[in-house]
Amino acid sequence: KIVHLVRNRVPLAEWPAEWFRIEDNIRRKDILLDHGLVPGEALSAALARGPETMLTEVRRANLRGRGGAGFGTALKWEACRQAEGSQRYLVCNADEGEPGTFKDRVLLNSYADLVFEGMTIAGHAIGATEGLLYLRGEYRYLLDDLAATLERRRREGLLGRNILGTPFNFDIEIHLGAGAYVCGEESALIESLEGKPGKPRIRPPFPVVRGYREQPTAVNNVETLASTCLIAARGGDWFAAIGTAKSAGSKLLSVSGDVEQPGIYEYPFGVTVAQVLADSGARNPQAVQISGAAGTCLADDEFERRIAFEDLPTAGSFMVFDRGRDMFEVARNFVHFFAHESCGFCTPCRVGTALNRRLMDKIAAGQGSPYDINEMFKLHRLMQGTSHCGLGNSATTALFDTLTKFKPAFERRLQSLDYEPGFDLDLALS
Ligand code: NAI
Repeated sequence: KIVHLVRNRVPLAEWPAEWFRIEDNIRRKDILLDHGLVPGEALSAALARGPETMLTEVRRANLRGRGGAGFGTALKWEACRQAEGSQRYLVCNADEGEPGTFKDRVLLNSYADLVFEGMTIAGHAIGATEGLLYLRGEYRYLLDDLAATLERRRREGLLGRNILGTPFNFDIEIHLGAGAYVCGEESALIESLEGKPGKPRIRPPFPVVRGYREQPTAVNNVETLASTCLIAARGGDWFAAIGTAKSAGSKLLSVSGDVEQPGIYEYPFGVTVAQVLADSGARNPQAVQISGAAGTCLADDEFERRIAFEDLPTAGSFMVFDRGRDMFEVARNFVHFFAHESCGFCTPCRVGTALNRRLMDKIAAGQGSPYDINEMFKLHRLMQGTSHCGLGNSATTALFDTLTKFKPAFERRLQSLDYEPGFDLDLALS
């Protein structure tokens, strides 16, 4: 059925909604998922504090973006609040497209109040009256419930005019993506919100200066916004005491792959990879892919590393591969993914991802040589340095990691006539 729909170019919006509906599978709750707040509690605390004090609390909390990059949230909000413009916008990036990442889906499905409340608090802090939730196309099945939550919040005086009896006006609109990975990049997302194809803009100017409709716009991840509720209700110092010195608070991890209990796990920042593997019942793991296709591939001698911005920053994806997996095929899968998702705007990414796919398929067919491996290293350096946006810059990270850490998985495929046993990877890397 899927092949039929793809071949006939049936838009994602017309695919049966039930195909996308997945269980939440929350395995471990901690700070954020165990928040114990009732709708409106964090918002009234934020309104009582006022925008300036709220910004100070977020700064004290040392809240950093949960979308993967970890930029300081207070810095972003202050820049947006101070930027010149006739109108400010708050955008919630719910275009969770990274393979293996599904924690925003769970927040939207089971904790929608926390997300909308966080958006309202952020809107108040930056001086916005309008919030936009950009929802991944594949999450369309959440739309009715999210719209009902928004409606209820309006009835309860938590959205709309004179929120909780104050002069603050703010409302939220939901926009649906159409299945492009690149639209998770904030400037492509803004283009898409404006009704244009999702091509990333040149940054700077960052969206906080010129974003949606050329106006100052703060784009924040779903989890970041949900976390602001805790800061509003409990204070910045309380939040900063959780996690590590450089990574405050907790992190939701989407654990998948060769584990007995896949699902959502929440930990204070600083947890080791080994701990997550033990908790999720990983069987004989040989590799963990952190932060999705764009992230780092860890071999088993790295499992003592920590999930934290100072060690392993992640948007939350935690994919486990046991010793039965062929790491070459894992890398080939990611290479195909990027060749499919490159938006085609810049040459290094458009051509580089396609060349990598061709090279990997050639090696898979038993026709590869060390020359092809060298080509992939060259492409890695070139694409990292010259691509227009984060997609192209990170499109070869997983391949590079797998090539360097799982060399035999590639070597045993090199069987063409010019095969040189044990090609010199170190030479290729130099
Ligand atoms: P970035 O580091 O360029 O920017 C991060 C945020 O900080 C952006 O909102 C940007 O506007 C802001 N920012 C940076 N410098 C600024 C400045 N001087 N003034 C004001 N604001 C500034 O990272 P980028 O390219 O936005 O995102 C890359 C990250 O996204 C990677 O860490 C990657 O892992 C992650 N990612 C997440 C996915 C997901 O599904 N959650 C999918 C793909 C990638």
